[in-house]
Amino acid sequence: MSKIEEVSSNLSNKKTGLGWIEWLRGCFSLMHEMLFQRIMTRHLENPLPLPPLDRDFTCIVTGCTNGIGREIARQLAEAGAHVVMAVRNTTSADELIKKWQHDWSGKGLPLNIEVMELNLLSLDSVARFAEAWNARSGPLNVLINNAGIFSIGEPQKISKDGFEEHMQVNHLAPALLSILLLPSLLRGSPSRIVNVSSTIHHVGFVDPEDMNVLTGKRKYTNLVGYSGSKLAQVMFSSVLHKRLPAEAGISVVCASPGVVQTNFARDLSKIVQVGIRLFPYYKFSPEEGSRSALFAATDAQIPECCKKLKSDEWPVCAFISHECRPTNPSEEAHNLETSYNVWEKTMEMIGLPSDTVEKLLEGQQVECRYRSHQD
Ligand SMILES: NC(=O)c1ccc[n+]([C@@H]2O[C@H](COP(=O)([O-])OP(=O)(O)OC[C@H]3O[C@@H](n4cnc5c(N)ncnc54)[C@H](OP(=O)(O)O)[C@@H]3O)[C@@H](O)[C@H]2O)c1
Repeated sequence: MSKIEEVSSNLSNKKTGLGWIEWLRGCFSLMHEMLFQRIMTRHLENPLPLPPLDRDFTCIVTGCTNGIGREIARQLAEAGAHVVMAVRNTTSADELIKKWQHDWSGKGLPLNIEVMELNLLSLDSVARFAEAWNARSGPLNVLINNAGIFSIGEPQKISKDGFEEHMQVNHLAPALLSILLLPSLLRGSPSRIVNVSSTIHHVGFVDPEDMNVLTGKRKYTNLVGYSGSKLAQVMFSSVLHKRLPAEAGISVVCASPGVVQTNFARDLSKIVQVGIRLFPYYKFSPEEGSRSALFAATDAQIPECCKKLKSDEWPVCAFISHECRPTNPSEEAHNLETSYNVWEKTMEMIGLPSDTVEKLLEGQQVECRYRSHQD
């Protein structure tokens, strides 16, 4: 076959969406999680017992003024860690800290917790956050990319940076944050990047040439935007996991919280919200929903598990289920060719050269389009 024939055959074979069997499997995973999550997690305690953490053990948690993130931040701080609340609403975070310190008083040393401003709808804000953090020249032990949006019932929105908002908040901004914080994560090694994912990625599809779902090749719905962004995050994480050498000691993990009663469903129609409230048994509380991310952030077996996946050249990074067990992400997430294309496209969108990871690991400086990055 000539080169031209090969290229045109590749183009015509290009996948334009999930096959219906994959889609049905994805729907089955979602239904299974919704109906059986409580039964499947009977072995777990709530709250999840955490190991005692050192006051120098630093964790950045994004989007922790509400929902799952709020539980993650509080529990890490109560276990002894130094927690940085990376939030867009700093007043609300300051109030939470006051309340937590008050509730905690008499139980031990005051909580070691601080607030820094971060708005994921602005890549400039992300770059500024990373620059300010790296300027401290201190170690970072855990980055938890928790903040996320699912704008149900809203029209397609494009951020000021020019990206579809689910893609920006759920994937592009956390990707930029993770990469720019690598120098600090290296100082904190063994360290971890934990991405709060979702089982919904099983029905997601990403076209690296149309990450914003704007070309009209696919019809945009909020589900397409949300599920695609969560799949893009898993695919990008898998490539990051591969690009980071084992010696760097930085584990990349995705964690699925289950179906959790939070503000997440605030945009659902009133009737659906009432319907959901009628079945409280099926939903996790935010405390229950925080267990998989907390497990991914603190369990001693995680680095070994990541190392094993790396040495086995497994196509995906570690994925922790709501049962706090390693599980397999979707079939599409195993598509390495697409994952590498998602990586390339993501790096282009967030304004970083494709070999940024390697350069940062060598201690070189990297220019980011959104701000000049200096370690
Ligand atoms: N709830 C579920 O059933 C479920 C299931 C699967 C996965 N998840 C994932 O779990 C994570 C947390 O969701 P949740 O259920 O806890 O939702 P939530 O209660 O709505 O909390 C989301 C958090 O993200 C923050 N956030 C939103 N946009 C932001 C932005 N532009 N910049 C900075 N922070 C921003 C919010 O800040 P404000 O407080 O300022 O609004 C809030 O603290 C998300 O990644 C979500 O995809 C949730």
